[in-house]
Amino acid sequence: MAAGNLQVTRPDRLRASVLSRAALWLRHAPEKMGLISSAPKPGFFDQYPRFYSSSVVGATPERLNERYRALISSNEQLIREKTILDLAAHDGRWSFAALKAGARHVTGIEVRSHLVESAIAAAREYGIGAERYQFIAGDVFDQIALLQTNSIDTVFCFGFFYHTPHHMLLLSKIARLNPKHLILDTAIDPSTTDCIVRLTKEGVDRDANSLVGQPGDPLYALVGTPSRNALETMLTSFGWSLSYYDWHRAGIGNWRDLRDYRDGSRVSIVATRR
Ligand SMILES: C[S@@+](CC[C@H](N)C(=O)[O-])C[C@H]1O[C@@H](n2cnc3c(N)ncnc32)[C@H](O)[C@@H]1O
Repeated sequence: MAAGNLQVTRPDRLRASVLSRAALWLRHAPEKMGLISSAPKPGFFDQYPRFYSSSVVGATPERLNERYRALISSNEQLIREKTILDLAAHDGRWSFAALKAGARHVTGIEVRSHLVESAIAAAREYGIGAERYQFIAGDVFDQIALLQTNSIDTVFCFGFFYHTPHHMLLLSKIARLNPKHLILDTAIDPSTTDCIVRLTKEGVDRDANSLVGQPGDPLYALVGTPSRNALETMLTSFGWSLSYYDWHRAGIGNWRDLRDYRDGSRVSIVATRR
């Protein structure tokens, strides 16, 4: 499960390379075909197009590149030379971005082992030294508990907070690590100002979702989306002070793949220990 142990076969590498070139070509096809006059704004992941095809979850160039600006670029001082814990690391996109931004070491935890394999393959393909990262295949709740207190400077919790009903348990496990910063990117329920968590069910068959089915209905996981009020109440109860990324001042021209941020049903926060 540590970085060096998994083999990535040549056909897999070849397929990933062909798919990522195709994704990059498609990104620029409309302007090449004269359908639009200006090229899309270049972004971080254009240099690493493997991530456009290693997942089907939010992997469009516009979404990945704007999230890069919000979550990585604007937080560079919390990442450079720091040790990072990337919760629900998926295909390693944010672990990799952190390493390229100068993180000293990244630990990624991801429950789906095929995504862990993909994360390792990406780091190898793009030449990151194996001593700078480890990807652990497992449940966030089990694996955080195995990490040492004071071993992590900055925790990434991107796209995960609403795929669990155990928010306070997660925050208490993060607090035990004693990180200085928590960068959180999460869906919220924008329909109320009340302090609530809206419980729903999601299928465990999708790579975006929880993998832990309910005992009474194993194909579905019970998850909770907090209102903004609930999110703030939970975070501040652990002594975090919060600063929101202002998506409306980010100069975004095309919101097509970012509607959740535009509409306030998703937020990006830097939490700093008071
Ligand atoms: C919506 S994706 C977010 C991916 C990435 N962090 C991002 O923001 O782009 C949620 C990820 O959480 C993973 N996941 C869900 N439940 C998990 C758990 N209990 N422990 C570890 N990973 C989990 C899923 O497999 C999936 O890769």
